Amino acid sequence: MNAIEINSLSKEFGKIKAVENISLEVKEGEIFGFLGPNGAGKSTTMMILTTLLKPTSGKALVAGYDVVSQAKQVRQNIGYVQQEISVDEYLTGRENLILQARLNHIPKNLVKKRIDEILELIELTDKQNEPVITYSGGMRKRLDLAGGLLHQPKVLFLDEPTVGLDIQTRRKIWEYLKKIHEKFGMSIFLSTHYMEEADNLCDRIGIIDYGQIQAIDSPQTMKNALGNEVITFTISNNGEKKSNLISKIKEIEYVKDITTNGEGITVFSSKGTEVIPIIFQLSSSFGIKINSISLTQPTLDDVFISYTGRELRDETENFNKRIEHAKMKRLRA
Ligand SMILES: Nc1ncnc2c1ncn2[C@@H]1O[C@H](COP(=O)(O)OP(=O)(O)OP(=O)(O)O)[C@@H](O)[C@H]1O
Ligand SMILES: [Mg+2]
Repeated sequence: MNAIEINSLSKEFGKIKAVENISLEVKEGEIFGFLGPNGAGKSTTMMILTTLLKPTSGKALVAGYDVVSQAKQVRQNIGYVQQEISVDEYLTGRENLILQARLNHIPKNLVKKRIDEILELIELTDKQNEPVITYSGGMRKRLDLAGGLLHQPKVLFLDEPTVGLDIQTRRKIWEYLKKIHEKFGMSIFLSTHYMEEADNLCDRIGIIDYGQIQAIDSPQTMKNALGNEVITFTISNNGEKKSNLISKIKEIEYVKDITTNGEGITVFSSKGTEVIPIIFQLSSSFGIKINSISLTQPTLDDVFISYTGRELRDETENFNKRIEHAKMKRLRA
């Protein structure tokens, strides 16, 4: 049985097609990454899979249960850690987990053991009796993760687990997630717009943009599909000369794809060292001067650009705004 099966799933909000005809499967024990920019439809999909939203059309099974007609069974088998951190600042770490344990109907005789075990795993044992207001962003996220794990779900949903955290903290969270996956072996469906995160954690990745799946594969296969080398160079020329140069480069045998961004031109190739001299020859025949040139390995960022024609944007600013908004709501309440 697959952990998740999605069949032609769509969700519309009025005229907005947030999710459009998505189909995919997540295998048992797999870590599947949903990779896409702001507004791509990641959270909407996740809310459907966690029974918080009803689809407009299509079908989805989670842990073998239908997300609409068997919502209760789905909820019993999943953990869901939302995009916004949802721990209570004025309770201690342990109190937050006790609250989560009650919400998830964990039998009383198991609560202490489960909480001790999870605190140990995410290395918050020493801080457990301090109010969350004294915790760093990374510690809050770890506590939030712990809350989603107490009832040992078969399928864990993580919506942008490291958004807004600095890169060191993000890496730490990846290590915790790997430890958690190793210990419990559950299937994980996570969304992210960090290429590095998807590459680092996931067995397979689905690229989503404008509500549609653009590609599904392993990170390595995606990178290989572009060729194993990336040539990036800049020129000052624009217009006809530039487009002539680009179409000539496309004709080179080892060139798999080419994208442009301002003065920069990126060429994906299976044999970069052979292609570079040809690029120089072609440029000089067009009277174009190359300002800089480099040869690197493709990243998932490159994969995303190649599939969607766009780069990913950072969301830190957005995230901070949302936290402010949540705090204001809380003050008013
Ligand atoms: N409740 C809603 N009402 C109307 N439109 C919505 C609603 N929720 C989401 N949308 C729209 O649906 C689209 C997909 O949004 P969604 O939140 O799923 O994207 P996302 O990939 O999670 O983005 P982000 O990275 O910013 O979290 C966006 O255009 C969004 O504005
Ligand atoms: Mg989202």
